[in-house]
Amino acid sequence: MKWLTIALALVSPSQAYIRFGCGTISIQRLDPVVEPGKLPSSHVHQIVGGNAFNASMTGDIGNKATCTTCSFSEDFSNYWTAVLYFKARNGSYHRVPQYPNALLGNLEGGMTIYYLQQDFNSNGKNKITAFPPGFRMTVGSPTSAGNSKNPGLRYTCLKDVMTRGGETNDFPKQPCPAGIMAIHHFPACWDGKNLDSPNHQDHMYNTVKGSFQNAGPCPASHPVRMPQVAYETMWNTTMFNDKSLWPADGSQPFVWSFDDTKGYGTHGDYLFGWKGDALQRAMDSTSLISNNLKTQSVAEANKCKIKNTVQEPIDGCKLLSQK
Ligand SMILES: *[C@@H]1O[C@H](CO)[C@@H](O)[C@H](O)[C@H]1NC(C)=O
Ligand SMILES: *[C@@H]1O[C@H](CO)[C@@H](O)[C@H](O)[C@H]1NC(C)=O
Ligand SMILES: *[C@@H]1O[C@H](CO)[C@@H](O)[C@H](O)[C@H]1NC(C)=O
Repeated sequence: MKWLTIALALVSPSQAYIRFGCGTISIQRLDPVVEPGKLPSSHVHQIVGGNAFNASMTGDIGNKATCTTCSFSEDFSNYWTAVLYFKARNGSYHRVPQYPNALLGNLEGGMTIYYLQQDFNSNGKNKITAFPPGFRMTVGSPTSAGNSKNPGLRYTCLKDVMTRGGETNDFPKQPCPAGIMAIHHFPACWDGKNLDSPNHQDHMYNTVKGSFQNAGPCPASHPVRMPQVAYETMWNTTMFNDKSLWPADGSQPFVWSFDDTKGYGTHGDYLFGWKGDALQRAMDSTSLISNNLKTQSVAEANKCKIKNTVQEPIDGCKLLSQK
């Protein structure tokens, strides 16, 4: 697809990863990984990817979904994070809109998704094993109240939509001219056996160094090197940047949907759903730019929708107390 080729051509020719946009497919309180079947789940999520997304998801999602909001049309995976709200001085909450990554065209909201073999500049020499059908994992924890030791969970205060770097592990303390980018890097070492684990994390081992560097080697307990998955979510906070709207005590006003005003509880969920061997083919390619993955237009991606299972207002106010 033309727009994708142009977007990819803008970045370094030595790039060695797949990076693509996925528009928003749903914003609701569902969590098929952490709280399967629960209607509603404890907090609001923003979800991108395939239309098989629902309260419970089992089996081969790549065979169940029929459309996706992702620019790679064989990717029916679901990717989600919590939702960011602005808390006004009068105590009301207002959902912060998302906008698509500036490199990747006019998708509706959503996120930028990365699958790296090694790092930004090289595919490396390791065999990268694609996730198997049914695979799922999370990174981060909504109950983390202190500094995250995981360098893969970060925020960038955007001076403009292209700002990268200057990462912090809590919410920016000053208004950010072009919004806040939330970054989630997932672990890439698998135990080779389990599609999931009770805490959705122990089947994986984290060697991520952050900032798209090459993650460290996998330990004997988790020997299988998987793609390094990362999300970037651009929260358009600009309509809330007037300091007279911010708390009088000088604190910052943004809060995750699970009632986290510091940002340390940032977390992401991943549910694998590439069709057939599409992801493995891409990971086996030495040139990820000509990776033979099928693409679709932005208009087609934006057409993929689901009906909300949980019917409730999501834009503000009551949500945080409904937990
Ligand atoms: C989603 O799950 C609900 C029950 O939890 C069910 O009623 C609904 O039909 C499902 N939607 C789809 C699209 O499968
Ligand atoms: C509370 O403040 C926000 C932001 O200034 C405003 O949009 C909203 O209408 C106010 N709500 C009430 C109930 O006053
Ligand atoms: C961000 O929000 C502002 C204010 O609502 C809007 O004017 C602007 O177009 C948005 N930016 C993007 C990139 O969507």
